[in-house]
Parts: sequence; C-alpha cells; structure tokens
Amino acid sequence: MNTPSHSVRRPKGGSPTPAYSWREWVDLWDRQQTRYIPHREARFEAMFDTLESQFGGRFTVVDLGCGPGSLSARLLRRFPRIRVVAVDYDPVLLYLGRQTLRSASGRLRWVEADLRAPAWRERLPRGRPDAVVSTTALHWLPFVRLRKLYAELARLLPAGGLFLDGDHRLLDRSLPQLGRIARDASRLARRSPRGTDQALGWTEWWEKLRAEPRLTALFELRAARYPERGHHEHSATVGAQRSWLHRAGFREAAPVWQQFDDFVLAAVR
Ligand SMILES: C[S@@+](CC[C@H](N)C(=O)[O-])C[C@H]1O[C@@H](n2cnc3c(N)ncnc32)[C@H](O)[C@@H]1O
Repeated sequence: MNTPSHSVRRPKGGSPTPAYSWREWVDLWDRQQTRYIPHREARFEAMFDTLESQFGGRFTVVDLGCGPGSLSARLLRRFPRIRVVAVDYDPVLLYLGRQTLRSASGRLRWVEADLRAPAWRERLPRGRPDAVVSTTALHWLPFVRLRKLYAELARLLPAGGLFLDGDHRLLDRSLPQLGRIARDASRLARRSPRGTDQALGWTEWWEKLRAEPRLTALFELRAARYPERGHHEHSATVGAQRSWLHRAGFREAAPVWQQFDDFVLAAVR
C-alpha cells in the first residue's frame, strides 16, 4: 500500500494542484477505514473463504455500497474467474473506483443506484448473481428499508445463493454484559491500530478530497443525494437481523465470523 504524505501541493501563486493520484486516494480510503476496523482485511478474507466454500472459484457477485471498490478489487484479485457488479450512490466514491479499477478487463460493472429505493434492482445487469456481499455499508439504511432490502435480495438470489454482510452489529439484548465488553474491546482495538497511525480520519479524508478541483461538480451531486451531514448508524442486533433474513425468505442465517461487535452475517437462500 502506498503511503503518500498528506499535504496538498500548491504551485507558486496558483490554485492547488491535485495532491494524490486517484489510486492514492483509494489507498488513503483503505487506511482511513482500517483505522476504524483494524481487522478489516481479516474480515474480507473470511468473506472470501465463505464464498469459495460455497461456489469454488467461479461465480457472479454484487457488492452493495461498494464505495471506491475496496471489496470488489480484493474479490477480483482473489478470484480471477469471477464477475463483480459494484453498486453505490455516492458519485465521488464511484468516480474514484472507476478511475482506479476501470472495468477490470470486462469483469467489473459499476452501477449507480440508490439502495433506499427498490428500483436499484432495475439497474443491475440481466441474470441472477450467485452472491450478494457488502461491507460497512448497510447500517446506513433505516431498519424498515433494510428489511425490504432483505426481501429484494431473497428474490434476486437463486436457491443456494449467498448473502454476506460484514458490519458492526449489536449483540443480542439478552447479553448486556457481553455487549458492553464487545463494544469496549472493539474501541480498545481501534486505539492501537496496526500500521494505521498515520491514517486520516473519516472527516479529514473527506475534507482533503473536497479540495480536489476535478471533483467539485461531483461533490455538489453528492450533497444533493446525501443531504444529511454525516450518516446515522442503524445498528440492529444479530438476532433481529437473523429473524428478518428468515422472514425475507432465506433458509439459514447466522454469523460466520466475529471480532468483538463486528460480524460477517451469512444467509443462504
Ligand atoms: C463506509 S462506506 C463502505 C464502502 C466499502 N464497502 C468499504 O468497505 O470500503 C459506506 C458506503 O455505503 C454507501 N451507501 C450508503 N447509503 C447508500 C444508498 N442509499 N445507496 C447506495 N449506496 C449507499 C456509501 O455511499 C458508501 O460508499
């Protein structure tokens, strides 16, 4: 991973020039995300092992809330024969992803769609994916919408299809002490991040990127699409999400990986 310095270069008397290449901005994104999720790479690997155990090395997968394509890029690297559809509604992050990964020799499709409305499915390419995956994204959706999304995913996936979601979750209410311990331990793990001490925070990363003159119009579009400053964390309990997935039509649903209060929840159609 590159470790560019964090200054914005300014030519004498001129406007700021772009400090980083698009790829460096994505590297900085990954470092920023790893600051909050120190075990992020292990979580990705757990998702890939789960996919491989169900499908081997050949499948089609949709990455929901893909951002600049961190999960998609790793999927394409780990599985040279798969196809990925990367879905997001943030024009800035999608631009970074497209500039960095392009179409991965025809194996990657970028889809601009809002997961808050059921019409997102109409923007997908024809044919059913084998799997739908997501990381650190679906907690942006209110519970009412998330439950509807689960039903949409159950209709989209074929029998045996997999849904994998890596995200923060609450432990079940019957475990108040363990819930507190998991939350605190997670905070402690973030306090001693490995190799991310130089990483920008979420707000800092966005503020620096906003100074990039080539992105002005996309930032305006982003503000219209996400009018709230910041986003609300809608963290459901693991138990609630399992029962929503069952009711949506998934045959089985359970965590397949956990680090404190961070889970990969898997559901089989
Ligand atoms: C914290 S980022 C995670 C990005 C990426 N999955 C990763 O792990 O690095 C959350 C992503 O969810 C996307 N997202 C949030 N609400 C969305 C919506 N309504 N429709 C599509 N994407 C959404 C955001 O645009 C953002 O890219």
